[in-house]
Formats: sequence, C-alpha cells, structure tokens
Amino acid sequence: MKITLKIDHTFRVACIADRIAVSLKADRDFAWFLGLLHDIARFEQQTRYGTFKDAKSVDHAEFGADLLFKGDRLIDVFPKYTGIPNWESVAETAIRLHNKLNLPEGLDKTTYLYSTILRDADKCDIFRVLTEPPFDERNMRICEAADPARDVIMDCVREHRCVPRTFECTEFESLMSQCCMAFELVYPESRKIVSEQGYLDKLLSVGTEGSAKDQMEMLRAEIKKAWEELCLMEEIYTI
Ligand SMILES: [Fe+2]
Repeated sequence: MKITLKIDHTFRVACIADRIAVSLKADRDFAWFLGLLHDIARFEQQTRYGTFKDAKSVDHAEFGADLLFKGDRLIDVFPKYTGIPNWESVAETAIRLHNKLNLPEGLDKTTYLYSTILRDADKCDIFRVLTEPPFDERNMRICEAADPARDVIMDCVREHRCVPRTFECTEFESLMSQCCMAFELVYPESRKIVSEQGYLDKLLSVGTEGSAKDQMEMLRAEIKKAWEELCLMEEIYTI
C-alpha cells in the first residue's frame, strides 16, 4: 500500500513536471524523466530502513542521487538522454535538491530551470498526498486541540516563506507549514495547477475555531497576496 502511494506520486509528479515544462517551452521529456526518477530512493529506503521518514533513516533525495549517479549507477539502466547538454549533472543536482528548503546560489541556468520545475511539481502533488487518509483524523485532532500556532510560524506566514524543518511543530503548526509550501512555487503554471486541484484549499479549510481559525484565514490571505504580487511581477517582466 505504502509503495503504491509512492508509485502513484512518482507518475503524478512526472505528469505535472511535463505540464510545467510545456508552459515554459522547456524540454518536457526531460522534465517527465526527472519526475520519474526523483523519488527512486523511496523503495530502497523502505527495504533497508522500513520507513519513509528521512529523519529516521536517510535523506531520500541525496540517497536517490547517490544510487543513480554514484557507485552502482542505476542511471545506466535508462536510455542515455541526449536532449540536454550535461544532462547527468543537471539530473543529479535536480534530484539531490528536490526536497531542500532552498536552492543554493550559483546554479547554472539549465540546472536552475529543471530543479525548480521538479520542486514545483513535487509540491503540487504533495498537497494532494496530504489530503489522503489519515487527513480527517488529523483534522479532528487539530480541531480538538484548538492550539494556535506560535509567533515563529506566523513570522514565516507574514514573510511568505517555508517553515524550516528543524522547528518542532504541533499538528496544527505542521499543517500550516505544509500550506506555506505554496509561497515557494516558482512558476505561474504550478500555481494554476494547485488552484485547479483544490487540495491546498482543502488543507486551508480545516475546521478550527478561535485564534487558530483566524491564523488559518490569515495564511489563506497571505498566499493569495503573495500569488497576486508574483502575478503582477511576471506581467511587468513580460511587458
Ligand atoms: Fe521526494
């Protein structure tokens, strides 16, 4: 069952990456290929460690890039990709960075393009995964606890950025942190996909009360504001 979820996620990310690539006139085959490979380590992670939790095993992005491009070079099982110069280096970096909070400075243009396509596609489908069971049970616990998020989380909301993974979060704060991934979507097509899917909307609609409800509404408003600002910037940029 767990493996089925990962296979489903893999193909969905590949299809979303393809769609984002088309919107950017990038190489859609390569974007799809990256989606296909990005979580390849999940299977070996489950076999060796019996968990998908990186904190209890290994960073699955680093592990995947190592399995593909170091040692046994699993990448050699796949046909050689010739459409992108230095495609192996681009693919290795994109896979290694797909789960990181931020991208490092100084990536070349092609590596940045495909890394951001893959990261956006992954986030789009993570919103769907988060609405899968035990979504309702978690919502019930969040509603019962009715704990508001701390200032440190609300600072991220106000500053339109993701919450660092090192923060110890309550379940409500985790939900808010997950929704904050919306701030990090780079491409207009990614934001369009998330809007069309409705999963982020579902996550933001948790039935909290009191100040927790106000915080959720603030988060929704801040995401809307951030996306409108990005939209305006993109319009100015293209004029
Ligand atoms: Fe991943």
